[in-house]
Amino acid sequence: RTRDHGSLRGFVRDIADFPEDGVTYRDITPLLGDSSAFAQAVTGLVDEFSGVAVDRVVGVESRGFIFGAAVAYRIGAGFVPVRKPGKLPWAVVREEYQLEYGADKLEIHRDAIHPGERILIVDDVLATGGTARATAKLVETLGGVIAGLGFVIELDDLGGRAQLGERPVKSLLHYS
Ligand code: PRP
Ligand code: MG
Repeated sequence: RTRDHGSLRGFVRDIADFPEDGVTYRDITPLLGDSSAFAQAVTGLVDEFSGVAVDRVVGVESRGFIFGAAVAYRIGAGFVPVRKPGKLPWAVVREEYQLEYGADKLEIHRDAIHPGERILIVDDVLATGGTARATAKLVETLGGVIAGLGFVIELDDLGGRAQLGERPVKSLLHYS
């Protein structure tokens, strides 16, 4: 069951050597700014997980908030932010991870997910998988079950999918 989201490619702008030499940054701001393209991306993510029970959507700061909140609204689920360190005001669980360029930490509120809840993780890009894996670990530390991980863009050559093990991964667009 493969859907064609190829028309969205025209709304992803390639920026050479950003944020550092040798990295091609896939800029989604043209997609966000176009009402049809944005709607198609959100609907595409919703459709990829139709028939999958989801209690809450987790979005990763900051670009994951944009798609995650829209998907949560569309499927009638609550939204849970996973944030960069020091942003969440209450008790957190923290996970360290490697980024495509650099290292960082992510946090989630300890009471944001309850044991057994089915969680859909949403982000704009799956690159090395460090961000997504750390987010999945945070969810699982709180007893959540990963119903799926949905991305607008997957950078196939960076091996992110392999970092996520058996967890179900869907991406609308693939880049090599
Ligand atoms: C980007 C992107 C993903 C992550 C993917 O976020 O939005 O969250 O990198 O990379 P990975 O698979 O190698 O971990 P970034 O940390 O740059 O922050 P932003 O969303 O706030 O722009
Ligand atoms: Mg991000």
